[in-house]
Amino acid sequence: MEFFFTVPPAITFGPGCSKKVGEVVTQLGYKNVFVVYDAGVKAAGIVDPIIDALKAANLNIVEYDKVLPNPPIECVEEGATLARNAGSEIVVAIGGGSAMDTAKCVNVLLSNPSPLSLYEGVNNVKNRTNPFIAIPTTAGTGSEVTTMAIITDEANKRKFAVHGQHVGAAIALADPELTLGLPPFITATTGVDALTHAIEAYISKMNMVPTDVMALKAIELIIKNLPEATKNGQNLEARSNMLLGSLMAGIAFTNAMVTLAHSIAHPLGARCNTAHGLANACVLPYVVEFNAPAVPQRIRDIGVAMGLPVQDLSDGDVAKAVVEALIALNKELGIPSLEGAKVPKDILPTIAEDAMKEVPTFFNPRECTVEDVLAILNKAY
Ligand SMILES: NC(=O)c1ccc[n+]([C@@H]2O[C@H](COP(=O)([O-])OP(=O)(O)OC[C@H]3O[C@@H](n4cnc5c(N)ncnc54)[C@H](O)[C@@H]3O)[C@@H](O)[C@H]2O)c1
Ligand SMILES: [Fe+2]
Repeated sequence: MEFFFTVPPAITFGPGCSKKVGEVVTQLGYKNVFVVYDAGVKAAGIVDPIIDALKAANLNIVEYDKVLPNPPIECVEEGATLARNAGSEIVVAIGGGSAMDTAKCVNVLLSNPSPLSLYEGVNNVKNRTNPFIAIPTTAGTGSEVTTMAIITDEANKRKFAVHGQHVGAAIALADPELTLGLPPFITATTGVDALTHAIEAYISKMNMVPTDVMALKAIELIIKNLPEATKNGQNLEARSNMLLGSLMAGIAFTNAMVTLAHSIAHPLGARCNTAHGLANACVLPYVVEFNAPAVPQRIRDIGVAMGLPVQDLSDGDVAKAVVEALIALNKELGIPSLEGAKVPKDILPTIAEDAMKEVPTFFNPRECTVEDVLAILNKAY
């Protein structure tokens, strides 16, 4: 047995823990804080109490509030210029994957020269970064525990990863109270993104025992809690379990990687600005269906983690049951098909070609052709 497993940041988990941020920055010995978020999180009333907690610790604060979904390089460079000019020492992100990934890259550029494109790929960030603090507000990406950031290169219509040493958070403050007001549709789609991370980490060619344990528990937590968190957002227990599930899925996939669903979701995000979770949710059932013959025992384990009665079924019937349950989950959560998500049909061949070049395709358990990917896209349409 051989594997490489990165241990995640120091995680503080629990209702209200985001208010400890002032204390945490002070303990680390920094004074000048750069806070990154987007307009939606600000409007939801999540930012101000955290800024107040930083102010109560007598810290100097500069805010960057212009993060965009599927964040483009320009947001990162604009934020980095502001942070450098302000003499910021430590970066705090408040938000979903878009804010956390923007902040990760701003933090990289505080100790490494621009442009960001120099750091695309794995372990290309050379200079050590200061500790970065991630405060997630969606139970989805797991970016608070992953060692990568996903940024959009709008000029070339693609997303790319800055991955590896010096990129991830040093400290995650995972406060489920911040997710109580997340609207139902964003709860649903970001939640299925987390489920996709867990399922794809489990079937990835890079799977290993430590990620398997995280992935299966994440699948169980998400399947049990996502419908309730979507329908009754104020249920703190369901929200806590979702945040825990997304965080565990994040630890799994930052090590085991993801597979074909993410290879398809990235170009859908870059070319059609489809929300990341929505893109994954639309294709996940059909990616699982495609991969099932290559990893039958793993699909069976996933079925068990989902609580499906698969014990006495043949491999083919297990796969069918898992796929049907994923389709039914999308339906229950009000997640549309790719057509309903306003993806133009004539772009599907381009998405299929892009997906073949994506890094996660390399980790897919079953070899695929561009025709296979197009068939998956057509089913998901
Ligand atoms: N770094 C990683 O490991 C990783 C993993 C998966 C995805 N991603 C990337 O993350 C991005 C997607 O992140 P996301 O799915 O979290 O969505 P997001 O950060 O784009 O947020 C989606 C929307 O929800 C709003 N929002 C967030 N939290 C809220 C709250 N608590 N209450 C009300 N509104 C809230 C935001 O304002 C935004 O409008 C994509 O770019 C994707 O590629 C990164
Ligand atoms: Fe994802």
